[in-house]
Amino acid sequence: MTRILAIETSCDETSAAVLAGSGDATALESLVILSQDVHRVFGGVVPEIASRAHLTAIVPVVEQSLREARVSMRDVDAVAVTNAPGLVGALLVGVSFAKSLAFGAGKPLVGVHHMEGHLFATAIEHPEAVPPFTALLVSGGHTLLLDVPEWGSYRLLGATRDDAAGEAFDKVAKLLGLPYPGGRHIEALAGTMTGENPLRFSRPMTRRDQQPGDADYFDVSFSGLKTAVLHTVRERALPPRPESGADPDATMRAAIAAAFQDALVDTLAEKTYRAARLQGRTRVVLGGGVACNRTLVARVAERVQPLDAKVYAPSVRLATDNAAMIARAGLFRFERGERAALDLNAYASQPIPGMIAA
Ligand code: KG4
Ligand code: ZN
Repeated sequence: MTRILAIETSCDETSAAVLAGSGDATALESLVILSQDVHRVFGGVVPEIASRAHLTAIVPVVEQSLREARVSMRDVDAVAVTNAPGLVGALLVGVSFAKSLAFGAGKPLVGVHHMEGHLFATAIEHPEAVPPFTALLVSGGHTLLLDVPEWGSYRLLGATRDDAAGEAFDKVAKLLGLPYPGGRHIEALAGTMTGENPLRFSRPMTRRDQQPGDADYFDVSFSGLKTAVLHTVRERALPPRPESGADPDATMRAAIAAAFQDALVDTLAEKTYRAARLQGRTRVVLGGGVACNRTLVARVAERVQPLDAKVYAPSVRLATDNAAMIARAGLFRFERGERAALDLNAYASQPIPGMIAA
C-alpha cells in the first residue's frame, strides 16, 4: 500500500488530497478544494491574482487534507504535484511548495501532467473505468479524444482546432449574459427549454462521408458554432440580460442555450462513437469540467449504445480541477518508479507523457 499526498494549483482551484492503495485498488482519504471566487468579478481567470490566492491558501489547504485523512507527513509515502500544463505562476506555487514539503519530510516527489490526472479521475469512483477505453477529456483549456490501451499509453485521435469545449461554453455564456464560468449556467438555462426548439445550429465536422484518416474525422472545432450563436443574438436584437429580476427574453435565451448545447454535445458524441468503434472499445471514460454536463453524458451513452459500450463519468467534484485525480495519476507514476528531482519545473503546455503513434 502506498499513500500519496497530492497538490493541484494549475488554474483557479487550490486543492490537496490524500489517496492510498496500489494499482487500480485505491481509496480516497481526503480531498480539499478551495475555488478562487475572486475571478468572477473579471469574467475570467486573472493569472497574477490566481498565483497570489494559491500562495495564501496552500498551507491551510494541505494541512486540512492531512487532518481530514487523519494522517501526518510521516504516514505519506510520496508527494505528487501538477507541474504542467496550466498557468505557470499558479503551477509554480504548487510545485515550489511540494518540493519544500517533500524535501523537508524526506519523501520522494512525483510530477503529474494535469490532463493525465483528468484521465484517472473517473477510476477513483468507478473501479471499471480502467483501460482499455476511449477517453473524451473536455475542460476549459483542452478537448482531447484519446484511445487508452493501458495506463501510461495514450493514442491521440482528435483534438479541437480552435476553442476547447469548456471555453465555448464560457464564451456563449458571456454572450447570453450569464456568470463565469458559464458551463453549468448554460446547462441550467437549456434545461428550462420546453417544447420543440425553433433554433438549430449545424454540427461542425460531422459529415457522414468522412473516413478514418481524414484530417477532420476525429477533430472538433467550436469557433464557428460560437459565431453562429453571436449572429443569432444580433439578429434577434437580444437585449442584455437584466442584472436582477425576471428576464423578459428568458425563452429566447433558453432556446439559444439549448441549441448551442445540443450542437456541441452531438458533435462530441459522434466523435467519441467513431473512436470507440474504430478501436473496438466497449468502455468510454469522460473527464474534465464539461463532463459535469448531464446532457453530454446521456448523449454519448445513447450514441455508443450500438457498440454495447458503457460510459463512465466522474462526479462534479472529481470532474472539475481537484488534487484527488493528481494523487491517482501520481500513484501510477510512483509505482512505475518515477521520481522528480528537486529541479522539477512548471510548464504552460506540455504533451501528456506516454503518447503513442495513432
Ligand atoms: O476541468 P476544469 O475544471 O478546468 C480546466 O482544467 O479547464 O473545467 C472547467 C470548464 C469550464 O469551462 C466550465 O464552464 C466547464 O468546465 N463546465 C461545464 C459544466 N460545469 C463546468 N460545461 C458544461 N456543463 C457543465 N455542467
Ligand atoms: Zn482541468
